[in-house]
Amino acid sequence: MTKTELKHRSVARAFDSQRTLEGGGVEIRRGFPGPEIDEVDPFLLLDHMGPITIAPGQATGFPDHPHRGFETVTYLLEGQMEHKDSFGNRGFLEAGDVQWMTAGSGLVHSEMPGRDLVRTGGRLQGFQIWVNLPKRDKMTPPKYQELKAAVIPHAETASSDVKVKVIAGESLGMRGAIQVRTPILYLHLTLAPGATHVQEVAEKFNALAYIIRGEAQFAGAPERQGEGRLVLFAHDGGAVAISNPSSQPVDLLLLAGEPIGEPIARYGPFVMNTREEIYQAFADFRSGKLGEIPEN
Ligand code: FE2
Repeated sequence: MTKTELKHRSVARAFDSQRTLEGGGVEIRRGFPGPEIDEVDPFLLLDHMGPITIAPGQATGFPDHPHRGFETVTYLLEGQMEHKDSFGNRGFLEAGDVQWMTAGSGLVHSEMPGRDLVRTGGRLQGFQIWVNLPKRDKMTPPKYQELKAAVIPHAETASSDVKVKVIAGESLGMRGAIQVRTPILYLHLTLAPGATHVQEVAEKFNALAYIIRGEAQFAGAPERQGEGRLVLFAHDGGAVAISNPSSQPVDLLLLAGEPIGEPIARYGPFVMNTREEIYQAFADFRSGKLGEIPEN
């Protein structure tokens, strides 16, 4: 079957993400978890951080906190972020960079605006999504995959009306560089006014879109989905069809993944399969087993 023959998945639900504060008081829009949905298996959380303007000297970010049992994926659109963890790892993200962190058995980390950004002030914007790990991988040792913007595959159509950054999975013949434990698609798409794009997405995958800016329509439905909207697709086809009905470009994330289908026990920064494993995670954190971040 060719791509044009694949049935387009219809919109199951669409809703506004929720504005809230996270970490040390960073303004975010949270797609989920929230009043509409708890998770979109295997995705546990989607946060759009900012855009916020950091005043000179203001170091508002996400100070030391633990994680266990899943992966955090940070994709920075603007600004700089500095990352430190309790194993002595340090990372530095600039606009367009991706950090795919497998927290696994656990660590303590901090995610703060970069030093230059704190000194001079400026804009900060990005995404963090949480990807669940299957039971067999929850206690895997922590691991990082860090991709500079320059090595993230950029695909585009011949007429350049559709551009895709392929963070994970495949689009327009380009394959993302991230190694995933369960099949995942993570795309940042930009469609020029009037452009359309049909993205193959396996029917069994859970799939969602988040509109960063502009307006999009899906599967030919008349509703326009604007900034901050979270769109969930039904399992009724093998592709997601996106079009831009407006006179401005639209930027959106398209995420899809094979559901893990295991029980989820979740409390704050820990996501396990049972309540007992959550108690254990807290006990391990309190007793220092997840470590501490060195002062310098
Ligand atoms: Fe974190």
